[in-house]
Amino acid sequence: MSQYTLHINGQPHKVNLAPDTPLLWVLRDALNLVGTKYGCGIGSCGACTVHLNGVPTRSCQLPVSTIGQQKITTIEGLDATASHPLQRAWQELDVPQCGYCQAGQIMSAAALLKAHPKPTDAQIDAAMGGNLCRCATYLRIRAGIHRAAALAGPGAVALGQSGQAGLISDQAFAQISDPTSDSTSGPTSGPTA
Ligand code: FES
Ligand code: FES
Repeated sequence: MSQYTLHINGQPHKVNLAPDTPLLWVLRDALNLVGTKYGCGIGSCGACTVHLNGVPTRSCQLPVSTIGQQKITTIEGLDATASHPLQRAWQELDVPQCGYCQAGQIMSAAALLKAHPKPTDAQIDAAMGGNLCRCATYLRIRAGIHRAAALAGPGAVALGQSGQAGLISDQAFAQISDPTSDSTSGPTSGPTA
């Protein structure tokens, strides 16, 4: 076991763990930041995506010993009031179905919007291709990213406030509006840890 100080969502966190512990389990098991999800554990699904110095990163593949002073952002730290344009767009367009993959989707989309504030469909498909959704919400994810780009643009706040909300199931939206929730059990028979 070794001690590490990780910089997560703007705060230092001390953990005492084996050096090969993946960041995903540091977040979920040691720090109770359960918005980041375990899907495949082999770097293939994107459910565990966080930002490492702003870059979308598979936390299931990142040993804690390799992180050092790099800045980690999880879905819990994306916006202090869970009102990032992506989160507002996701609510307005009812993007999630079961919700399990959506934190990872939003983290990848947030990095995309930083690089390309008005992304094309091709840029969206390229950036989001590694994030799988067993519920096949891909078209709504693409629409949500376009909507978030519009909400983030000049004079767009009023548009966001007039959007429809409340149509999405409480359980699915819990993943987006309250990323501390761990109530969603996964798309089908996938891992539920
Ligand atoms: S759980 Fe990390 S990529 Fe699937
Ligand atoms: S909403 Fe993506 S796996 Fe269910």
